Amino acid sequence: MNRTAAQTRVAPADIAMRGLGKRYPGTALAAVEDVDVEIRAGEIVCIVGASGCGKSTVLRMVAGFETVTDGDLLVAGAPIAGPGPDRGVVFQDYGLFPWLTVAENIAYGPRQAGLARAEAAARTREALEAVGLARVERSFPHQLSGGMQQRVAIARVLANKPSVMLMDEPFGALDALTRTDMQHELQRIQRDAGVTVLFVTHSIEEAVYLADRVIVMAGGTAHGIAGHVREIVAVDLGEDRDPNSPAFNEIERHIDALVHAGNAARV
Ligand SMILES: Nc1ncnc2c1ncn2[C@@H]1O[C@H](COP(=O)(O)OP(=O)(O)O)[C@@H](O)[C@H]1O
Ligand SMILES: [Mg+2]
Repeated sequence: MNRTAAQTRVAPADIAMRGLGKRYPGTALAAVEDVDVEIRAGEIVCIVGASGCGKSTVLRMVAGFETVTDGDLLVAGAPIAGPGPDRGVVFQDYGLFPWLTVAENIAYGPRQAGLARAEAAARTREALEAVGLARVERSFPHQLSGGMQQRVAIARVLANKPSVMLMDEPFGALDALTRTDMQHELQRIQRDAGVTVLFVTHSIEEAVYLADRVIVMAGGTAHGIAGHVREIVAVDLGEDRDPNSPAFNEIERHIDALVHAGNAARV
């Protein structure tokens, strides 16, 4: 491990969801119910499932953007009270401040957390190096490609030294080649920084490529059934995964069948 990685590393956190549910105010049916998942520290777990089955709702509860209305949700053993720098969130639309430079975007979190300017600058350099962007620190977001902006968004999260990284379809807006690059980068970053990753995606291939385990969700209020976990699929394919290998394709087909099994009843 290089020096940068050692500095960036914090202890990854485990995430416990026990009978977890969410009912939005004024709605008759729960958006999500009965979610029982134990995510181990340092795992990459992906969530897949049809639109409206509650993927983002689960992620947003872990982020602390939405309250828990049923069951328990613990990060590193403690209930979530709200958003915090220990849980970094990366969105599809990057969420960068357009009026700040790359370096200023990244330094923003550490400065908000009360770090002195010099220490925030050190964290910023470290995070920029971790995502391979040291050369563009003075650029503004609009001067960068989508893939580079997404790297900045990841660096901004890393600068807070999170124990969990939450990603909601982060690569959905990128072209296919950039997306593959970013998937590869994320694996490297995750190993170096030692974070736990919870990653929502529409792409089953992306999930099988990245995840230690894939949570397949189903249901959704549009079907009159609360969103729920249909199955949790272990992806025992090791580190260097070939999307064209038979073993990869078999897991992909299994998940695809689960996602498209319909919602007539819980299966
Ligand atoms: N703030 C909200 N208020 C009421 N209902 C919501 C809210 N956010 C999401 N929902 C509903 O909860 C369900 C799950 O949504 P979401 O978690 O966004 O699903 P997904 O990310 O899987 O597409 C949907 O029926 C959606 O309409
Ligand atoms: Mg969503």
